[in-house]
Amino acid sequence: MTDARTEFTSLAKELKRRVALSDESDWNMKENRQGTLEELKLEVESCRKCPLGLSRIKAVFGVGNPKAKVMFVGEGPGYSEDRKGEPFVGRAGQLLDKILESIGLSRQTVYIANTVKCHPMKNPATPDARSNDRPPDETEINACRPYLDQQIDLISPAFIVTLGSVATKAMLHNEEPISKVRGIWREYATASGRVVRLLPTFHPAALLRNPDLKKLVWMDMKNLRSELEKGA
Ligand code: URA
Repeated sequence: MTDARTEFTSLAKELKRRVALSDESDWNMKENRQGTLEELKLEVESCRKCPLGLSRIKAVFGVGNPKAKVMFVGEGPGYSEDRKGEPFVGRAGQLLDKILESIGLSRQTVYIANTVKCHPMKNPATPDARSNDRPPDETEINACRPYLDQQIDLISPAFIVTLGSVATKAMLHNEEPISKVRGIWREYATASGRVVRLLPTFHPAALLRNPDLKKLVWMDMKNLRSELEKGA
């Protein structure tokens, strides 16, 4: 009887020890996950893999919830983002905030990043000129892709929404116009093999130029919200 009790006590102690250990390792994993995103940010901030790294003021890594269910991917930083080091802070960004709000999301609950992390300029010799933004080229997109892939691996979102044709083409490797592919779910595979469902939609800047596109983006956002609710 005493032996059985002793055995039981030592088993209980062992169980307690293992539970404590597993809690601790889970906790460490979560810490590492965030730490690694921070480390990746530092790496991006000192990146010189393409000429954009030489002309940027600030690298624009990304903002939001490091465990977000949805990741929004834009084209690349513009004039204001280059100065603030944060994506989508100009007029297009204000509209993106409203789009997120329309389906109960926010800058704090999703993660927002760009295809390239540094400001592509038409003329890097005049960084203070306005209207100097241009889309990133293929070499710049390819140089930055490992950073985007690692962000996706670390954040592990259930869904990616690409904003506009540059991000959509960069991630889907196709040449179809955004008007044909928007609203249709696709898949994106990172270099490490993680597969994430991807929904292309219009870039908020396109909505500023053509407000008629707003109803299509609204349809896409309702589509996203319904997929999020299925998983909730
Ligand atoms: N447009 C983008 O695609 N990304 C930004 O961060 C800002 C504007």
